[in-house]
Amino acid sequence: MDGRRISEIMSIRKIVTLPDPVLRTRARKIKVFDSKVQRLADDMLETMRAAPGVGLAAPQLGRSQRLILVEYAEADDDPEAPPVPPKLFVVANPEIVRHSTETVSANEGCLSIPGYLGEVERFQSITLRGYNLHGKPLRVKATGWLARIFQHEIDHLDGVLFIDRATQVWKVEDQEAVQVSPTQDESRKRQAVSS
Ligand code: CO
Repeated sequence: MDGRRISEIMSIRKIVTLPDPVLRTRARKIKVFDSKVQRLADDMLETMRAAPGVGLAAPQLGRSQRLILVEYAEADDDPEAPPVPPKLFVVANPEIVRHSTETVSANEGCLSIPGYLGEVERFQSITLRGYNLHGKPLRVKATGWLARIFQHEIDHLDGVLFIDRATQVWKVEDQEAVQVSPTQDESRKRQAVSS
């Protein structure tokens, strides 16, 4: 199947929530990069955008495979600057190969744990290695929120959730009104980043 036909049949799927055991299972490596994996990535993309979320891991669609998507616009420091379009990363078998010693705490949510937020400490910057959907190796360097989202998604592949790492977790009364105020170096308020 070519890309166009695949994109025509992609669909929004139900996001698995706790206590589904798939969220606590270590996912399998992707060994064959075929149209099934492409189809899974397409469904993940559409489901993530509809949620909306900034990242999604295959176990969140009930598929115990090491595939993550991250789509995030890195904010410019200058508030007058035009908005940066979000960048999409699709990574199979991601692995963090380097990370900063510096860590930062910020609030996170998860589409698989609706209604809760937690304060989680993450590495400030990471380098990850993985593969694209054609099985070609890729490498991504990320800092700040982008690095945080990658760490959150990679945790999903090991059955780890933000509530396991959080220093505190709290229930959100009105999800529509949720605002997360990120770390000091990112002063602008953002919408809750759930992934
Ligand atoms: Co999540």
